[in-house]
Amino acid sequence: MTESVTATNDILPSQRHLFDIARSVVYCNAAYMTPWPTAFRNIAARAAEERLHPWETGAEGFFAMSEEVRGLAARLFGATSEHIAIHPALSYSVATAARNLPIAKGQTILTLGEEFPSNYYGWARRAEETGARVRILSGTPEGDWTARVLAAIDEEGERIALAALPHVHWASGSRLDLVTISRALKEVGAALFLDLSQSLGALPAPISEIDPDFAGTVGYKWLFGPYALGFCYVAERWWDGVPLEENWIVRAEAQDFRRLVHYREEYAPGARRYDMGERTQFLAMPLARAALKLVHEWSPERTARTLGRLSERLIARLQEAGFQATPAEWRSPHLFAARHPDHGAADLVARWNALGLKVSARGDWIRIAPHLWIDSEDEERFARIIADLPV
Ligand SMILES: Cc1ncc(COP(=O)(O)O)c(C=O)c1O
Repeated sequence: MTESVTATNDILPSQRHLFDIARSVVYCNAAYMTPWPTAFRNIAARAAEERLHPWETGAEGFFAMSEEVRGLAARLFGATSEHIAIHPALSYSVATAARNLPIAKGQTILTLGEEFPSNYYGWARRAEETGARVRILSGTPEGDWTARVLAAIDEEGERIALAALPHVHWASGSRLDLVTISRALKEVGAALFLDLSQSLGALPAPISEIDPDFAGTVGYKWLFGPYALGFCYVAERWWDGVPLEENWIVRAEAQDFRRLVHYREEYAPGARRYDMGERTQFLAMPLARAALKLVHEWSPERTARTLGRLSERLIARLQEAGFQATPAEWRSPHLFAARHPDHGAADLVARWNALGLKVSARGDWIRIAPHLWIDSEDEERFARIIADLPV
């Protein structure tokens, strides 16, 4: 009893002191890109410094830090290093999965209406190549996507090759019940690809229970990392698949530089075969390491709990000012959308951005994604700006 009370009250204080955010800015756009803590400046400078003396970088330098980062990423997925490939973009994870998942003529690939394009185009290409079709589910971003996906699985049954889904809709924060959806997909023999770019780090996912085939994420949003350095979870059943490219470093015993041209059939273990070329990323990897350590230090559970409370307070203010928000039943803690019946999203966003409240318009909705840097003064400023509607 005491334990669960402590756990529920376990929220983080504002982390504003770590960032360089002027008082005039209320940054509610973590879904676009998170700001770096100021301490990252020195990490970037130190990484650049190393390149001044490449003769000091030995063979070990090509492996050690990317392995450490792989391990830190694995913990976020509740998985082992063996499950993780290092990818430059979500589209790369889609292309990798599309190359390996069986998709036959006449089959269906399910995805959400207004899904992020990187989780659509790769599947559309593969559908064209195989004679399958992509079925884009109808519905607006803030709706109940779990119900829509389950209804489509019921309708299509074994025709479904796979579903390509997020944990939350990127434009509205509508959350999908991935455990239930995955169970339904498995019953019809379909695979599951996940785009966790708008959730991992701020919304924990029970990956071992969901058991997706592939689950990718970018690193520069809720993981606070550098651009072009993301991660892809690969289920063990795909560890013997075909990578998109054949880089030297993912082959067995690549550490032994004297034997690189003793070409090897075997790959490094687990999902490493799917790593992008030049995955060592000398400049970016130290930043990814610092970022993932920070995300772990905060703990995704605590971050989700803290942001959930914050979002509730912001939504209460929005509702007082006449806005509707993503319905509470399937809203995610860290990301939500709002709209006003009398004012267009694009106009409000332009006005708010000019006043310092940084958010994005996504279709008819305003996407709001605050993070731990928000403090009570920001909340007051937020409330003042959103209540001041144009006449
Ligand atoms: C849901 C989602 N997936 C993926 C991406 C980025 O995709 P990529 O890494 O292919 O550029 C974004 C960027 O906004 C996103 O919101």
